Amino acid sequence: MNTPILNALRKYKDSNTVPFHVPGHKMGNIFKKLNIKFDDLIELDTTEVEGIDNLHAPETSIKEAEELAAKVFGADQTFFLINGTTCGIYAMILGVTEAGDSIIIPRNCHKSVTGAMILGRLKPIYIIPEIDDVLNISCAITPIQVEEALKQNPQAKAVVITNPTYYGTCSDIKSIADIVHSYGKLLLVDEAHGAHFAFHEKLPISALKAGADIVTQSTHKTLASLTGSSMCHVKSNKVDTAKLRFFLKLMQTTSPSHIMLASLDIARYIMESSGQELLNDIINMCNITRIEINKIDGIYCMNIERIGSNGIHEIDITRIVINFSGLNISGTEADKWLREKHNIQVELSDSQNIVAVSTIGDQWEYFERLIKALKELAKVYRASNKNMSNDKAYLRADSIPEMAMLPYEAIYKSTEILELKASIGRICGEIIIPYPPGIPLIMPGEIINEEVLKNINTCLINHIKINGISDNTMRTIKVVNNKKGKGNIL
Ligand SMILES: Cc1ncc(COP(=O)(O)O)c(C=O)c1O
Repeated sequence: MNTPILNALRKYKDSNTVPFHVPGHKMGNIFKKLNIKFDDLIELDTTEVEGIDNLHAPETSIKEAEELAAKVFGADQTFFLINGTTCGIYAMILGVTEAGDSIIIPRNCHKSVTGAMILGRLKPIYIIPEIDDVLNISCAITPIQVEEALKQNPQAKAVVITNPTYYGTCSDIKSIADIVHSYGKLLLVDEAHGAHFAFHEKLPISALKAGADIVTQSTHKTLASLTGSSMCHVKSNKVDTAKLRFFLKLMQTTSPSHIMLASLDIARYIMESSGQELLNDIINMCNITRIEINKIDGIYCMNIERIGSNGIHEIDITRIVINFSGLNISGTEADKWLREKHNIQVELSDSQNIVAVSTIGDQWEYFERLIKALKELAKVYRASNKNMSNDKAYLRADSIPEMAMLPYEAIYKSTEILELKASIGRICGEIIIPYPPGIPLIMPGEIINEEVLKNINTCLINHIKINGISDNTMRTIKVVNNKKGKGNIL
């Protein structure tokens, strides 16, 4: 059949790859493990006929399922989403702000948060997260940073934090929630990677338990629902849920997939009925794996010893973050090697680390294969005695470039492409984010300066991946077309 997408998916399924990546059901493993029948998807695919509820005005089955989820996750109200955490983040931010409002956000936030700045015509006030010098990743923000931002910006409507980060590092979210509330503001949490936190005492505190007002989670990433299905939870009497629902309607299709909605219901059921035991097994497997990996010369697996440094208050121990600096190879190279030589696919890699996502869908055999493969990888690369420089490129975007106009203003302006050297003093028309550490060097609307160019050059020399930049060779940059003057709002 000439069906390229289906063919590609079948090929991947048949490859028997070890899936250390999302979605959390792990190629359907969790359904097999628990003997849950959910493979008649085509027959179940339908629309809002009689007896099937309406996501945008739920009255029967969806309402009941959302109420069950609210109870299990610890929310006052839960909204099921079929456009990922992305749409939940748009809606939760737009739902508590008006155009022109200021909002405090981490500089390393996911692009859905910056997207909300554009959609909502908001002014971002950034907090720069702490960076771990060993792994070279951005980690967490501290309660002191949040308090300082609130003191200096009393007009801010809310604080957004990303908790955990992609690497599983968590801020002291309870203290942050207390501080935010003591200033009479709302705490919104991007908990895309933490939907499993509420179900085991050895995992970091969940944002709802810590006191967040609105939390959006990618149920599909760490629990068992289908890709793109998420939940937005509210636990606050200060949130206008009608406004939030309005924006959720706006951000999602009028033809939601009831299969995705059913998968959210199943994900809740699994965690309610057996979440604790399933997580217990996975946590034990992750702990053994971490110990075994740390016995391998040249490889370091992130451990709880990092707690207490760089704002890290807790760590998600189901996230296996492995650093290869000791072998002088990049995470990207290790990622490729694991895939090609051992059929193991990890979630992400950067210039120093790989991140393997483990969930309740995993089995011990996966971890065994990872440990075995890493032992071999270390042997191969130690023998090859790669003579790469051991100097790590540390990008320090300690100062944020001056904002000349709001991100949305810059995005709507016409732009031109300039050689980097000619761009100094011009207003940037794009987002430039090096990975690692995942902190933007510059955002749309900010003025390009020498430090930004120096950092772009560091990325170029060290093969650090840059997201967002329109020219992958990093020789040119997109700038806003008006040479002088600021935006209308600033
Ligand atoms: C930190 C963070 N927030 C939000 C999102 C968006 O989640 P989704 O893919 O469910 O839309 C992601 C996706 O990777 C993410 O890493």
